[in-house]
Amino acid sequence: MQILITGAAGFIGFNLSKYLLDKSNIKIIGIDNLNNYYSKKLKKDRIKVISKNKRFSFFNINLLNKKKLEKIFKKKKINLIINLAAQAGVRYSLIKPSEFVDNNINGFYNLIDVAKNYNIKKIIYASSSSIYGDSKNFPLAESQKVNPKNIYALSKKVNEEMADVFSKQHDISFIGLRFFTVYGEWGRPDMFMMKYLTSSYKKEINFYLNNFGKHTRDFTYILDVCKIISKLIFMRKNFKNEIFNVCSNDPQKLTDIIKKINSFTNKKPKLFKRRLQKADVVKTHGNNRKIKSFTKIRKFTSIDMGLKNTVNWFKEYYKY
Ligand SMILES: NC(=O)c1ccc[n+]([C@@H]2O[C@H](COP(=O)([O-])OP(=O)(O)OC[C@H]3O[C@@H](n4cnc5c(N)ncnc54)[C@H](O)[C@@H]3O)[C@@H](O)[C@H]2O)c1
Repeated sequence: MQILITGAAGFIGFNLSKYLLDKSNIKIIGIDNLNNYYSKKLKKDRIKVISKNKRFSFFNINLLNKKKLEKIFKKKKINLIINLAAQAGVRYSLIKPSEFVDNNINGFYNLIDVAKNYNIKKIIYASSSSIYGDSKNFPLAESQKVNPKNIYALSKKVNEEMADVFSKQHDISFIGLRFFTVYGEWGRPDMFMMKYLTSSYKKEINFYLNNFGKHTRDFTYILDVCKIISKLIFMRKNFKNEIFNVCSNDPQKLTDIIKKINSFTNKKPKLFKRRLQKADVVKTHGNNRKIKSFTKIRKFTSIDMGLKNTVNWFKEYYKY
């Protein structure tokens, strides 16, 4: 089996590629445009790690370049697509909304439009918990009405709707994954945990705790995400456009996470509390009954174990 993973240099795309290369015989074609939203070095280092495996090949391709994208499909027999390429970052969507429309909406359209011409039968794609907006019906189930609060979340809603329409017009089975704050090794430097760890070790970098630390997040460990996607790859069921929450159903207050990280690092960075930022959702807490029942994965990694692994990786990679 040969699969195409977009966003392979990204946090989830890299970890998933590595997991599948280690645990299966799948061949992976990874594509990414290595954009500079965050450290290019980190993205290149990730690609270096997975490129050691001969079953992985990498192509620097932008989803917006349909011609180049098409060439890959012409050259290689692809059985399944996992779309993890996107412009991420809720706060960045206030600064550069056009990046989200271009990469997430037009990029996704290009990919599935090419896929339909090359007889692809299954596409797994990233959505996001942010699609729910500021809902109060916790834990959030997939049936809950969505209410995007920013352009990032809106781009994910459009992806889900586009997949819905395509699934009705073409013989493609879609699986949309609403990820809830994924964290772990090789994590994204623009996200809370990596920012906090950076400030812990680099005294000159201040840490800003938004909403005075009153945010709650349903943190989901990267290994659990990889296990779930791996199960979905091999699942025989024929979906139309099935949406799943991918979350641990274990919401944590950011202030508690900070205490736990401090206990692992023995450090306390300079911390400045500030008010709620415009595009931020206050709480996320997902219901994971559906994904558990489909994948039969019942146990998620504890936050203590996940955090410990994350901190250890951070110290090793950044040489602290
Ligand atoms: N990490 C999380 O907690 C989280 C939560 C919810 C949803 N998601 C979604 O999961 C997916 C993966 O997220 P991630 O955390 O790995 O983000 P990431 O930014 O680390 O990875 C995305 C990758 O896509 C690449 N990319 C962006 N635009 C591209 C384009 N036009 N063509 C080719 N490559 C492009 C980037 O260079 C990057 O390497 C994204 O769709 C994201 O929105 C992530």
